[in-house]
Amino acid sequence: METIIRVENLRKQYKSGKRPAVDGVSFEVGKGEFFAFLGPNGAGKTTTISILTTTLSKTEGTVTIAGYDVEKEAANVRRNVGIIFQNPSLDLDLTAEENIRLHVSIYGVYAYRPFYGMMPREYKRRIEELAEIVGIHENLFKKVKGFSGGMKRKLEIMRSLMHKPQILFLDEPTQGLDASARQSLWAYLQKIRKEENITIFLTTHYLEEAEEADRVCMITHGKVAVLGTPDEIKHKLLGDKSMRIDAGDRDALREELNGMQASYTEEEACFKVRFQGQTPQSIVSRLKTPLTRMEVHQQTLEEAYLSLVQQSQNERGAI
Ligand SMILES: Nc1ncnc2c1ncn2[C@@H]1O[C@H](COP(=O)(O)OP(=O)(O)OP(=O)(O)O)[C@@H](O)[C@H]1O
Ligand SMILES: [Mg+2]
Repeated sequence: METIIRVENLRKQYKSGKRPAVDGVSFEVGKGEFFAFLGPNGAGKTTTISILTTTLSKTEGTVTIAGYDVEKEAANVRRNVGIIFQNPSLDLDLTAEENIRLHVSIYGVYAYRPFYGMMPREYKRRIEELAEIVGIHENLFKKVKGFSGGMKRKLEIMRSLMHKPQILFLDEPTQGLDASARQSLWAYLQKIRKEENITIFLTTHYLEEAEEADRVCMITHGKVAVLGTPDEIKHKLLGDKSMRIDAGDRDALREELNGMQASYTEEEACFKVRFQGQTPQSIVSRLKTPLTRMEVHQQTLEEAYLSLVQQSQNERGAI
């Protein structure tokens, strides 16, 4: 896969900071990848995103975005990225369309014209197309003041996509949105991803939003703690997958499990059977003893994350 983001040994030391906010971070993201960048409050996510999108200078390291160096070729980097900031940045007294018009002219995509009707046809086409996908078509010419949080987020996403960026950076895009607004925003992002083959770089504290990511990078205290596919990360932090089964005739079940050399531990009211590399069905289908209980434990990124944060707190505590 073609590499679109390359970060090598990135460090950021804020003048007022005791420790570096980002401390030797390296990773690569492939073109079209959905990359989730996770970590606790203060881990260094926004600092990293700000450097990658040229809004903050780095102390050390190399960063290339779409082949361009973030410092030497900042204008080219900006042309290739869209950013949704952690804190909303819309002018509430302007209409949705005016917010977009202002933004694209500041970024030099289209020259500013005082009326929508005077803007180039291509601008209008792009606005119509995106407004349709996001579902704020009917509110395009209304003041943002009356928009809900979800509509504002959608407008920001739309605005960030006007110049057809190759990479979309989203810093906690769904913060403060209710479950249904989050879901509809995600449906829209998936659609955009498919239609525009865009690379997504996401930070979020809603871990379930990262379950679908191609790869996940978890950072703690400015350093990469784990990097891999969601499955790899779960295995690394949580160990083998398992299920719990039980039977009225526990002796018979134990004998069968021993006979098939299953890896299991006996708990108070059940057997915990590990099945890494197999499916639960492949084990259960070989059992003849009637089961009274069967629960497959689905590992989640949230559990993996909590276990990582716990580890990192213990390590810090030990220093
Ligand atoms: N402008 C600044 N000046 C000094 N220190 C800063 C500045 N911005 C952030 N920091 C510090 O750098 C560290 C990383 O902050 P950052 O905002 O990157 O974290 P984050 O991972 O985005 O956290 P959150 O999940 O809360 O958004 C924190 O210790 C923070 O206090
Ligand atoms: Mg942040």
